[in-house]
Amino acid sequence: MEEKKTILSGIQPSGELTLGSYLGALKNWALLSNEFDCFYTIVDMHAITSRQDPKELRERTLAQLAQYIACGIDPISNTLFIQSHVPAHAQLSWVLNCYAMFGELSRMTQFKDKSAKNEDNINAGLFTYPALMAADILLYQADLVPVGDDQRQHVELTRNIAIRFNGIYGDVFKIPEHYIPKFGARIMDLQNPTDKMSKSAIAAGGCILLLDTPDDIIKAFRRAVTDSETQIVYDVANKPGVSNLIEIYSVCTDKSISDVEAQFAGLGYGSLKQEVGDAVVETLRPIREEALRLMEDKAYLESIYKEGASKAALTANKTLNDVYDKIGFIPAPIS
Ligand code: TRP
Repeated sequence: MEEKKTILSGIQPSGELTLGSYLGALKNWALLSNEFDCFYTIVDMHAITSRQDPKELRERTLAQLAQYIACGIDPISNTLFIQSHVPAHAQLSWVLNCYAMFGELSRMTQFKDKSAKNEDNINAGLFTYPALMAADILLYQADLVPVGDDQRQHVELTRNIAIRFNGIYGDVFKIPEHYIPKFGARIMDLQNPTDKMSKSAIAAGGCILLLDTPDDIIKAFRRAVTDSETQIVYDVANKPGVSNLIEIYSVCTDKSISDVEAQFAGLGYGSLKQEVGDAVVETLRPIREEALRLMEDKAYLESIYKEGASKAALTANKTLNDVYDKIGFIPAPIS
């Protein structure tokens, strides 16, 4: 039998998970576990590249684990873990920092964007963040990395670091590829439908959180930005708001875009907003209920992340030991 390919992905616990996180990532992560050997992590070490409140970070990290599971990511057939629980991430990232060039890190558009937005906290971690992400991926010899387009450049950099390293020391790392799942949806902000739906825009009401109540969801869709026409047609360039609503409805109901257009032909934006809101409520209802239930069960969540960390460490430490050996570190005495 052919060996399963390995997948690794992660989300930062720097904000709440959103409808966009679910439809764009988590829903697919759950499906991928049928076909691949999957490692899914909560990247708390990445999150501290911007200032976090310690108490909130702790709560959000645990809540994020509960939501991963509630989204259908089975903790038995997948490895679910918290990044900081596997020290090999910090260890390999230091090594990779020495193989990532200042120039290439300077070209990362996310670094440029984030430093423009946070002028008072352009820390070194924000700059070397892609080396930590490379460590996340390379430790598990991942074949595929399902992430949004905004992370494509970081996966490219990971490949370049791995190729450079292998060029010196032989085949240490598998060269990973950016993976775009067949059914990945790109959900836009309900108020600014040309921007990706993001937790950082919560105040503006354009973002649906996985834990939002049905009432909040219906209200947010009622206020969603459309346009001054009346036709319900999918046309991203000219009708980004309406197209986003059509897309959300299409993925929540498993109907094709053209079926959705046909269903709403002749109807007004008001009924579209109502129907999309209802569909999202029904999609998120079981997830929210299960997540809230799991968040009460701290002992269960702890058992999952403990098990995840030891499974992850097994693979990660193998790679780390190989790297340490290749670069000439003397094996650490076992204490
Ligand atoms: N940088 C990613 C983001 O902000 C999160 C991330 C960290 C990640 N390490 C990763 C994603 C490894 C995929 C694989 O979205």
